[in-house]
Amino acid sequence: MTALNKTGASPPPAHLRVVGDRGASQKAGIRLSAVSKTYRSRDGDVPSLQPLDFHINAGEFFVVVGPSGCGKSTLLKMISGLLPPSTGEIFVEGEKVDKPHGNVGIVFQNALLLPWRNILNNVMLPIDMKRLPREEFLPRAKALLKLVGLEGFERKLPWQLSGGMQQRASICRALVHDPKIVLMDEPFGALDAMTRERMNVELMRIQRETGKTVLLITHSIPEAVFLADRVLVMTERPGAIAAIYDVPLPRPRSLDVMTDPVFSELVQRIRKHFFTQSALD
Ligand SMILES: Nc1ncnc2c1ncn2[C@@H]1O[C@H](COP(=O)(O)OP(=O)(O)O)[C@@H](O)[C@H]1O
Ligand SMILES: [Mg+2]
Repeated sequence: MTALNKTGASPPPAHLRVVGDRGASQKAGIRLSAVSKTYRSRDGDVPSLQPLDFHINAGEFFVVVGPSGCGKSTLLKMISGLLPPSTGEIFVEGEKVDKPHGNVGIVFQNALLLPWRNILNNVMLPIDMKRLPREEFLPRAKALLKLVGLEGFERKLPWQLSGGMQQRASICRALVHDPKIVLMDEPFGALDAMTRERMNVELMRIQRETGKTVLLITHSIPEAVFLADRVLVMTERPGAIAAIYDVPLPRPRSLDVMTDPVFSELVQRIRKHFFTQSALD
């Protein structure tokens, strides 16, 4: 392996690097200003999110945890432009979001690969849909597959891969068009515990090496603390911000960090938010 080894210390290859993204101004990243959502339905209004204000820095790994139904997926859909907020404004890289935009890559709970397309062509899907030049993006798709350990599987069909491998391919698909930000909605919920831990380590390495801004939703508090620069804890529906925690654990992190007292203490503090509430997802 070349620049993509486990230490995360070596620089990313040129075609995966995001230039000038880190430490950028308030304009970079994601900003929410008084963003709320109430769904209108035949049975009446469903208030889902109370007005939220927060900012995610460029290059930050930002994780949201909260009880089932508190509006986490709603939040993600609004940031991607798929769903309009009821009030407030969202800015991605300084641009107001008022329609679906190409500046995001999305990863869902299940890989959702197209069964008739091979792995490489599944990863290339956003390029084909956006009618971008294939020749230009093919090397990037292949480099991403290599980055997640799927080199040699380009021509395989999804069913020939394990669940964890499929989810890794879906992460490549979210990154292939080089979006500024990556939104992940409980991406590892369908995986077994061991695969999930491995995916966490790999995702952290990918994020480090590509410098992407990542917003990840999870119902696992240890996963949140392990991955995040900051963790946003939400209240029950209609969701509001209960707290935002800094995770002062140094990077690069390995799974050993879970035995660090700072890690356990933070997990405990976050868990306390839910003691009086129903269980998480
Ligand atoms: N299209 C919709 N119409 C009406 N209510 C909805 C719709 N989508 C979601 N909701 C409601 O909004 C709340 C938040 O949903 P969601 O964002 O999916 O929560 P989470 O992802 O945190 O589990 C839930 O109570 C859900 O029932
Ligand atoms: Mg959800």
